[in-house]
This record gives sequence, C-alpha cells and structure tokens, in this order.
Amino acid sequence: MPARALVACAAVLGAATTAAAALAAASPSGFSDGVAAGEMTPTSAKLWTRAPRAGKVMLTVTGAGATRTFVLTARRASDLTVQRSVSGLRPGASYRYSFAQGAARSRVGRFETAPAPGAAARVRFAVSGDADATPGPNGKPGFNGFETYGAMARARNDFAVNLGDTIYSDSGVGGTPVARTVAQKWAKYRLGLGLEPLRRLRSSTGLYSGWDDHEFVNDFSRAEHGAAIYRAGVKAFLDYTPASYSGRTGGYRTFRWGKNLELFLLDGRSFRSAKATAACGGDIAPTAPAAVRQAFAALAPALAQPVPQACLDALASPQRTLLGAAQLAAFTKAIRASTATFKVVLNPEPLLQLYALPYDRWEGYAAERARVLDVLRSVRNVVVLTTDMHAHVIGEIRTDTFAPGGPVGTGIWEVVTGPVATNTYAKEIDSFLGAPGSGAVVTGAFLRPAPPRGLGLRCAQTDAYGYAQVTVTPTTLTVQPRTATGRAVLDATGVPCAPLVLRAT
Ligand SMILES: [Fe+2]
Repeated sequence: MPARALVACAAVLGAATTAAAALAAASPSGFSDGVAAGEMTPTSAKLWTRAPRAGKVMLTVTGAGATRTFVLTARRASDLTVQRSVSGLRPGASYRYSFAQGAARSRVGRFETAPAPGAAARVRFAVSGDADATPGPNGKPGFNGFETYGAMARARNDFAVNLGDTIYSDSGVGGTPVARTVAQKWAKYRLGLGLEPLRRLRSSTGLYSGWDDHEFVNDFSRAEHGAAIYRAGVKAFLDYTPASYSGRTGGYRTFRWGKNLELFLLDGRSFRSAKATAACGGDIAPTAPAAVRQAFAALAPALAQPVPQACLDALASPQRTLLGAAQLAAFTKAIRASTATFKVVLNPEPLLQLYALPYDRWEGYAAERARVLDVLRSVRNVVVLTTDMHAHVIGEIRTDTFAPGGPVGTGIWEVVTGPVATNTYAKEIDSFLGAPGSGAVVTGAFLRPAPPRGLGLRCAQTDAYGYAQVTVTPTTLTVQPRTATGRAVLDATGVPCAPLVLRAT
C-alpha cells in the first residue's frame, strides 16, 4: 500500500487500535444506502457501498483469520458509489466488511465465498426479482415495503439472487415519469435502497444480480429502443450493483458453488432482436390452438379471429435471437462442460409455454427457444429458475402443450418466482382485460387444468409477492416457493405449493 494511502487509512480509522476493533465498533452513520457483496467465487468477491461524499473511502475486510484494508475513491461520476474486487480469499469461508469515511462508518456486511469446486457442501439460496420502490401519491412505496427481501434475508442463505427488474425505470405507479438518463436511473436505485429490507438483504449475504427490461425501459431491446438508453441502463446498474459485464456477452456469468452446484446467469436484454408484436397486430395469444382461443373468446373477443401466417412466421423466425450468438455459444459450451451435480439456469424471462402475450418471452423467439431446450436436454440435472412473470408457477417446459396426442415435454422443469413489488400477474390481466377478477379466472381455468383444457402447471399463484428458496445437497435440489412472510406459497386451489424436488441421476 502506498504511504499516502496508509496516511489516509489512519485518518479515516481514527483512534481504533486495530482494523478488527474498528469493524466491531462500527455503527452505521452516514452510509445511508448500506453495503453489498456480489460476484462471489471461491477466492474473491466484489464489495460495494455509496459514500457520504466524494473522496477517499476505507474498506476493511475480515475473515479466515485475517483483516485487510483498501483505500477507494468515491466520485460524483459514479454517484459516490464505490466498488472493490477483493481476491485471495479462502473458499467456503465467512467474511465481514465495512466502509469508513472521516467519522462516518457503514454497517457491517457479511458474505460467504463459494466452496472449492470439489467440496460436497450443502448450499442454500433464495431467488426473486421485479422490485419497484416508486412511491404512490401518499409518498409511500406504491406496491409494498420490499418485505420479500426481508424474508430472503431472514432465511440465512449462503447467497441470494436478484434476477432482474431490480428497478422500474417505467413504474407501474401511475403518473410517474420514465427514468431514461443515468442520473434518473441512479435515483431509482436510491429509492429501492431507501427501503430497509433491501439494505438488510444486501448486507446480510452475498448477492448475484442480473437485469431484465426495466433497468432500461419496458420490453427493452437495443434494436427497438436504441443505444443511449442501453448505455445509461448499464452504467447505472453497474454503479449500484456489485456485478460484472463484458461487451461480448453482456451480463452473462457462471458461478460454481462446490461439487453440487453451478449457476448460469443469462442476459436476456443486451443482444435480443426486436419483438414480433407488430407482425401479430398485438394478438393476445397468437400461438394458442384455435380451440383454446375460442374457449377464451368470451373474455377477449379478438381471440375469435384467425392469426395471420406472417405473425406465426415472425415468431418462429430463426433470424431472431434472444441471447445473441456469442452468449448462446458461451452458455452452450459452459453448461455442457459443467461437472457440477446440479446446473441452475437463472433465466430472466419464462421458457414455459404460457401462450398469453408471448412477445417479450422465449415463446416470442421460438427458434432460439428450441435450440436452448435442445442444449438443456443434453445435460443432466438441470433446473430453470425465472422471474419476470410476476407470479409463482412450477411447470415442465414443453415443446408442444396442445399436441393432438397430448403434451410433449422436455423433462426440464422451470420455477417462476416473484415479484417482490409490482403489479402481480393477476392484476396485470385484470387491467389488460379491463375486468377485475379475470386474473383469478385465467389462473383457475387455464393455468392449472391439465391439457387440452389448460396448461397443467403444477403450482400457480398469480397474486402473491415472494421468492423461491433453493436447497442443494449431493443428491437433491429442492425449490420451495415462499411468500413475502416466508411461508409456503398457496396454490390457486388454496393448498401449499409442493416444492419441486430434483434427484441427481
Ligand atoms: Fe417485472
């Protein structure tokens, strides 16, 4: 460490005799946006805070019998956020960290490093996403106080995953201006961090984070919305999130957690083609068979009309991509080469066939969806965990739900979870159809009943906040949908959703 940095260290730590003592004595003051850890590997992690003012910030990291300090610089160009990748850590170990600037001390954060790839460790983690902190007319958050993040923190996991729509640039709270610039998006991240449950989650455990569309704008693609809002979204996200990014594969990353688990975090936004909505005239369910369309024509009269062939051709066009060629190639290679017992694909938009408004999901990119399903079928012990739908559902991913001889499945299961705080799927259907209660009707009459009447999803709760709790052992992977209070999610039929259990083969 250079001499000037040492002096700076001494100045910010004040009279504390050791860095460890300073850590223990730290009481949160002045670092009002909290702290966070991300990108945990067996030997490294990225640590984050937002300083009270521009200038030097001290980072102290303690664990595995050692304390290390680092000097960082908070700049207005990053909205006073600072981050530092810390390496040389011990695998499968617990660490504590905190920041200091002048007399100000941050709260103490904790994280665990991933176990070494050969370690047969049991791993527990929670996943959710879709969190809008935008206040309503009364000044309170428009949806809720992020209680789901609080429940995820209380679950004392090895890590957590915040899987997209970590802000809402365009809020579901009526009358809110769209955040398009870096500064406007920074303000959205600060709104979220103004809620204690998110600060508590970020300080209580390490967090892998990804983006979906609302970090940019609703249903975002660069092809449709341009480079400027993409650049603003990337910068604001990376300023406020300890995550990493590359121009070639975007936010795609993989993380190994011991012998039993590898995570594959997909980026569904950086490289996707424009959606096919225009060719379909906005049809609500263009790929649903005629009989299903007819059955729901009472709810949505346009379903009685036939679907133009140009629409079906556009949805199925092999020219259109969701991941982009480089990311798809990297993902294919990595998951096929993985030696982890279980492979968890963290997927920002559902792969399930849901039929209603397929444009922004994998169903709207049918050719690449088929390619990805081929890849997943070539790998053993894989599960897909997803957000975006604003509902809790569990189902087998199918290539044709309404095939004449019965559904054609892939043997790959998907658990869709969330939201943390936004309009639920049921409320979105209500407002789309202009009829309160129609979300519940669609859930009970279409999502749950077995084909050919409905989708036959194993669990469907479309009007509850929450997350998915995952436990991985050497022989099983279990996913339990949980509500914002930590209880098991109740299915549309009123009974708790049974967990999805995968047994290693
Ligand atoms: Fe969302």
